[in-house]
Amino acid sequence: MSTQKAKVETEEEAETEQKPSAERRLEKKRAKARDRAEKVQADEKAEFEENAVQIKVFRYDPEVAAKQEPRFDDFHVPYEKGMTVLDAVIYARDHYDSSLTFRHSCRQAVCGSDAFFINGRQRLACKTQLGDLEEPVRIEPLPHQDVVKDLVVDMDHFYDQMHAVEPYFQSEDTPDSSELEEQRQTRENREKIKMSSRCIWCGACMSSCNIAAGDNEYLGPAAINKAYKFAMDDREEEELKQHRLNILEQENGVWRCQTQFSCTEVCPKDIPLTEHIQELKREAVKNNLKFW
Ligand code: SF4
Ligand code: FES
Repeated sequence: MSTQKAKVETEEEAETEQKPSAERRLEKKRAKARDRAEKVQADEKAEFEENAVQIKVFRYDPEVAAKQEPRFDDFHVPYEKGMTVLDAVIYARDHYDSSLTFRHSCRQAVCGSDAFFINGRQRLACKTQLGDLEEPVRIEPLPHQDVVKDLVVDMDHFYDQMHAVEPYFQSEDTPDSSELEEQRQTRENREKIKMSSRCIWCGACMSSCNIAAGDNEYLGPAAINKAYKFAMDDREEEELKQHRLNILEQENGVWRCQTQFSCTEVCPKDIPLTEHIQELKREAVKNNLKFW
């Protein structure tokens, strides 16, 4: 040991000995508290890393020069049982990047606003359990739609197609407003159209459809399903049913469907879309049969 170092240590020892014992005890306590806090922090970090789920989120913002090139951002979100993909993106936005943009509202599979392309499939983020997916969980906007920003797509074309089939009840028999009464439906007829009425306009089916992807004019599975709901409703008159079938029989209606079932597979409300389209095809054929 060099003479200089020995001298410094002797001076420190002398200084420590000179401190009142109460002060020394306080310092020891502080050091222990510091160690404990560091250990808690390290444990929390280790626990976070062990339980964290990695999500890869598509990013694109046409209004910011540096973000015009599409990319994926990685986020690690702490996992808790029962957590959905929507919970994960909300966590990422609230804790890491407030500019992360996506739509959501009801958080219970009712409003249809958070349909994303999750691990290669159209799904509602609020209905999809994070724990059921393989990591890293890849979250993208719905394919075949124009991306507005990050996970938000332009739904205008989808809504146009939905409105093209006149998606509202029409009846000649509607009474005057002065004598309004229930428009009763038979139990059997209600059963028949029950599933078609579950549509929440999420657009997942349209996004999954190869035909719709290649033909912008095709009405698409959701709009045809909506038309099915009314065409099969016994309370609308024959003449109106004819009018509805005319809309569906046109070149870009039911005959464009190639029975690929992708719409039925992704529909979060389990609507048998392909089956409904097939039934409307049969109705259209019957409608055109003429007997002499
Ligand atoms: S039919 Fe199903 S997938 Fe298509 S818009 Fe309606 S709820 Fe969504
Ligand atoms: S937030 Fe409404 S359907 Fe998911």
